[in-house]
Amino acid sequence: MEKTNIATLRAELRKKIRLKRGALTNEQQANAAQLLLKQIINSGVLNGVKQFAAYLANDGEVSPHALIEYAWHNSISTYLPVLHPFAKGHLAFLHYHNNSEMQLNKYKIAEPKLNCQSICPTSELELVFLPLVAFDKFANRMGMGGGFYDRTFANKRNIKLVGLAHDCQQVDELPIESWDVPLQAIITPSQTIMVSTR
Ligand SMILES: Nc1ncnc2c1ncn2[C@@H]1O[C@H](COP(=O)(O)OP(=O)(O)OP(=O)(O)O)[C@@H](O)[C@H]1O
Ligand SMILES: [Mg+2]
Repeated sequence: MEKTNIATLRAELRKKIRLKRGALTNEQQANAAQLLLKQIINSGVLNGVKQFAAYLANDGEVSPHALIEYAWHNSISTYLPVLHPFAKGHLAFLHYHNNSEMQLNKYKIAEPKLNCQSICPTSELELVFLPLVAFDKFANRMGMGGGFYDRTFANKRNIKLVGLAHDCQQVDELPIESWDVPLQAIITPSQTIMVSTR
């Protein structure tokens, strides 16, 4: 497919799917968050894990809040992404706990206030749950279009990357680009798509 066609297709898909997930009611979102936690536990991705990074839901994304609370109750440390203070277009990961001081970043997304002691070097993360806009049955992922996750995890093959989504975000075949970071799995409230090699 021609380059411009892929870009146009991706832009149209982003718009369509963001509208779909944005139309979910608060009740549907709350149910999805609970089912997602069950699906994640059953998938086995948390087995033996002592720490992971997730995100706070924004723009209709499926919420990992039940997952984060589960981690806190089970002595698993949790981290959240923040816009990297020096490396433009990259993410840094900060410890997130009950008393984390939060602030809004330039996209109006809440993130822990930058504090050197709370930073986890990215290469030390075991498992990262990523938000996404669209996915397909091969666990291909398309995000919001900033390239933040792609840049941050390019060439970091030893970190498990697991995409989280609502079922309505699945498409038949996602047009992918060379820089899209490959995931190990995608988990929705009703299914787990595992990739065998990574
Ligand atoms: N490893 C990289 N190095 C430099 N630029 C990159 C890299 N990965 C992605 N980009 C750039 O980021 C832009 C957005 O990429 P893309 O459309 O795949 O974002 P996305 O996957 O939706 O976003 P995100 O990774 O934040 O979820 C592209 O223009 C791409 O060139
Ligand atoms: Mg991408």
